[in-house]
Amino acid sequence: MNAVKTLVIGTGGREHALALALSQDPSVTEVHAAPGNPGIAAVATLHEVDPMSGSSVADLAVALGVDLVVVGPEAPLVAGVADAVRDQGIAVFGPSGAAARLEGSKAFSKGVMEAAGVPTAGSRTCTTPDEVAAALDEFGAPYVVKDDALAAGKGVVVTRDRDEALAHAAGCDRVVVEEFLDGPEVSVFAICDGTTAYALQPAQDFKRIFDGGRGPNTGGMGSYTPLAWAQPDLAAVTLEQVVRPTLAEMGDRGTPFVGCLYVGLALTDKGPRVIEFNVRFGDPDIQPVLAVLDSPLGELLAAAAVGRLSHVPAPVFRDEAAVTVVLASAGYPESSSKGDVITGADLAEQRDGVDVIHAGTALAGDDLVTAGGRVLAVRAVGADVATARATAYAAADLVTFPGMQRRSDIAAEPLGVVEGASLR
Ligand code: AMP
Ligand code: GLY
Repeated sequence: MNAVKTLVIGTGGREHALALALSQDPSVTEVHAAPGNPGIAAVATLHEVDPMSGSSVADLAVALGVDLVVVGPEAPLVAGVADAVRDQGIAVFGPSGAAARLEGSKAFSKGVMEAAGVPTAGSRTCTTPDEVAAALDEFGAPYVVKDDALAAGKGVVVTRDRDEALAHAAGCDRVVVEEFLDGPEVSVFAICDGTTAYALQPAQDFKRIFDGGRGPNTGGMGSYTPLAWAQPDLAAVTLEQVVRPTLAEMGDRGTPFVGCLYVGLALTDKGPRVIEFNVRFGDPDIQPVLAVLDSPLGELLAAAAVGRLSHVPAPVFRDEAAVTVVLASAGYPESSSKGDVITGADLAEQRDGVDVIHAGTALAGDDLVTAGGRVLAVRAVGADVATARATAYAAADLVTFPGMQRRSDIAAEPLGVVEGASLR
């Protein structure tokens, strides 16, 4: 692979982890990021841009002369930012707006899964209260009601309370009502070039705000890999049963999928079932995966962006584990606190095997301050999950800010056990 100049679009922990991994790839000669954050500034050159504006992102990519743009978050992808960059003849890792509908519309994504024969929960797409009521009764409790549209993690309600399910549906234009899937949840990320795909090592994300899987859903409070308890062929099975049929279906529709297909799976007693598709890397779930990736990330993403994935080796992973613990701000997930001074992030970063990944931080003079819901993620590698976990928590203990929230049970037990407290 030739030298690659890269530009990462986004501001969060996912983009920091991607920029860091790109900076460690010898074939990557420059890493730029926009808008970025103070942590990303340590591994990339930052630029101002409106990430939702395709023309602004494309202009920046042209001005910098980059070979590869990686669009991190879903909102710009759904808005067609990758299309605008591709129109300038620059390779992009990230789907077109049309293909990003796999995340942008739950009903669309269900339709693709059905056409492709992908194992998933039975579902009904509903637009009236009567349709919703009928679908709830058809599938029974626990009820699963999903806003059809992108809802920044707030669109899904899983409840035994029929009135709560009806009320959530009433607040949405169109919903998907689904069969409840019972079993631990895992994240499998597939790097796709439109026809070929490679799966990364599976990870698990702890979504609830409080220990034991209590409290509201968040964007993710921590994650780890590998999943020693899961079936060893999980990545291969996901490629075979989910990713390849989906790529074939998207290709047949004239909207090939290029980018990361994030397969959220429930491991049920009938086998893996898709809970959802996302069209970008999961955050924080991708963070530990990148920490143990032993292949050059830039080469993989660049090959996928130009339809040449089969020309580079499949990714390999070190025989190590990694754990990420998220430090969230006061009020998260309902709200977030800005401007609280963070101390100790530099000390944590100096620990062996530790990276402090910035998600919602800003600089106020010389101070690092909070600037979002999820503020930092402390990521550690180790010989096994227990060791990585101990290192991550010891480093996280060095960091503090007013109102800081973190879970104490990330990677203590498989998620199916921990989060089982509420519904699973
Ligand atoms: P989603 O935004 O589709 O990932 O849904 C958010 C969360 O709701 C998931 O991470 C699951 O924990 C839960 N969930 C979604 N769909 C289902 C389902 N069919 N059965 C059980 N839980 C679900
Ligand atoms: N961690 C879940 C997500 O990225 O959607």
